[in-house]
Amino acid sequence: MQAYIARKLNVPLGQVYGVVTFYSFFKTEPRGKHTIKFCLGTACYVAGVPQLIEKAKQMLNIDLGQTTPDGMITLEECRCVGACSQAPVIVVDEEVQGRLRPNKFPQILKKVQD
Ligand code: FES
Repeated sequence: MQAYIARKLNVPLGQVYGVVTFYSFFKTEPRGKHTIKFCLGTACYVAGVPQLIEKAKQMLNIDLGQTTPDGMITLEECRCVGACSQAPVIVVDEEVQGRLRPNKFPQILKKVQD
């Protein structure tokens, strides 16, 4: 696709690649049907998002930036989403969910998988 865009815009492929790799909203790998993002902003980090990430990795057997083999769920990190008072925060698809504890993660996962 990048080669196609470069050809159509008559610009070097490296220029298109530079844009794709600079902006985090562009992805070069297929993503899952659902995305769970973990806020790594300071408030969320201090409030326990690392424990949530560990729980998610343990339950799904994938790392941040990876997608489950069935293509259902991608785990990602994100920066502050502006809901620091709700820390720790995750974003499930487009929905911000806060004040989470690792023991609540199975419920969230079940909801996503249904
Ligand atoms: S640091 Fe997570 S929402 Fe602000």
